[in-house]
Amino acid sequence: MTTSWWQTAVFYQLYLRSFSDANGDGIGDLPGIIARLDYLQDLGITALWLSPHYPSPRVDDGYDVSDFYDVHPEYGDVEDFKALIAAAHARNIRVLADLIPNHTSDQHPWFQASRLRQAPYDDFYVWSDDDQRYKDARIIFLDTETSNWAWDEVRGQYYWHRFYRQQPDLNYDNPQVQEAMLDVMRFWLDLGLDGFRVDAVPYLFEREGTNCENLPETHAFLKRMRAMMQAEYPHAVMMSEANQPPQETMRYFGGQPGRPDIPGDEFHMCLHFPLMPRLFMALARADRTPIVDILHATSPIPANCQWATFLRNHDELTLEMVTPEERQCLWDWYAPEPRMRLNLGIRRRLAPLLGNDRRKIELMFSLLFSLPGAPVIYYGDEIGMGDNIELPDRNGVRTPMQWNDSANAGFSTAFDLPTPVIDDPVYGYHRVNVAAQLADASSLLHRIRRFIRIAREHPALAAGELTLLDTPHPALLAFYRTMGEERILCLHNLGDEPLRFSVPAATDLLADQHLPAGERHLSPYAYHWLKC
Ligand code: GLC
Ligand code: CA
Repeated sequence: MTTSWWQTAVFYQLYLRSFSDANGDGIGDLPGIIARLDYLQDLGITALWLSPHYPSPRVDDGYDVSDFYDVHPEYGDVEDFKALIAAAHARNIRVLADLIPNHTSDQHPWFQASRLRQAPYDDFYVWSDDDQRYKDARIIFLDTETSNWAWDEVRGQYYWHRFYRQQPDLNYDNPQVQEAMLDVMRFWLDLGLDGFRVDAVPYLFEREGTNCENLPETHAFLKRMRAMMQAEYPHAVMMSEANQPPQETMRYFGGQPGRPDIPGDEFHMCLHFPLMPRLFMALARADRTPIVDILHATSPIPANCQWATFLRNHDELTLEMVTPEERQCLWDWYAPEPRMRLNLGIRRRLAPLLGNDRRKIELMFSLLFSLPGAPVIYYGDEIGMGDNIELPDRNGVRTPMQWNDSANAGFSTAFDLPTPVIDDPVYGYHRVNVAAQLADASSLLHRIRRFIRIAREHPALAAGELTLLDTPHPALLAFYRTMGEERILCLHNLGDEPLRFSVPAATDLLADQHLPAGERHLSPYAYHWLKC
């Protein structure tokens, strides 16, 4: 089987507002990213995923779009967007944008026209005379919203919203809405974009008597999106954000459950929400069981598809889909202070979650790069950036990238920054920054660069066959990744006790060292990728 580019890609999720500010207004922008592409190329990533770039009143940081056909003026314009794609392509880096099909901003002209019942937008949103419909749908932004309905004075009706009340849901029962979203996709793909991370896909349709998630109608429309992409932009990829139980998440690949030979016909990739919290659980308990169980529950997938694996992203570390006991255990372990929690999750970055323990940070990255799936790195985690839990909502994990130890961490020349840089003694930019880590061969950044290099040279790590080994130590996660002639044994010690394990003669890929067969000693939190 031939692999597609995205099956072995290394993604970098970049929060555009906080990455790099080129014009000195304190806000990250597209020219700023272009100026940092050399850094990303050196890091070794092969694809960028940009957080929403559209005009937006930013109630939900750009996930409330007020114009699907433009760039937020603070970030640049459509010409800058094209220039970024061209400059990234010149470095063999592909570019994905965020697509937000489920809802718009309440400031979007479609919603403004719909409130006034103006054709053809009258029926673009989900309106109702009462707020009693679809009672079985849960509320997602639990800390902020008490209902999925909000009253609109102008129209004299309620409208449906799964997120903030300023984000009315589009009405996908209206064929014009479906066509409008396909046209939005075409507009950006025509500029040369390589695909989309598609936001909040489970919620497109509503049906009485259901929880309004993962409905057959929703899957049918997503398959239409895929068919359009396949026919008109066959090089491009669609990655789903579906934070759902394992079986439901996997349904977004399309194809047929349990039949890898039947091609997926929905999303090429799905973000691996089921795996992510189990990685943290396994580490907290020094027990591989949560990882092993979820890997069994989430395979096989269609051979023409791929998971997108991640440790952290721009949202809270979501615990919506684990049991209440598991959630409590993860909260106790990783979010002891109430301010660290948000909705049903944890608003912290990777390094602080792991107590800034370099061994645990590397171990988690090793899992990210060696378990099935194409890895997605959240900007700043490659240098172990910290967070600021005093900031509202999820802003604490969206602070400016720490480039060096000059003013504003080298992010911007502005006098004042709308989002402050991290400046505490442990994670502050004087200590944690790109320049310092580039100059230090033993830094986390150099380790991540090495992970990426080896992962790119050995596609078996992302896309090979997975064989889990049964070992007597619960803390030892051992598995083979096999592709063609190549076989790599990956070992992870999830606990703080040393372990012994007998291995065949092999080359340790990360240490670049040949080792004879025999007992290997694994220190606490050690990991090895052994080519045998
Ligand atoms: C997704 C995004 C999140 C946003 C929500 C509503 O979960 O990742 O940031 O708030 O969708 O668009
Ligand atoms: Ca700027």
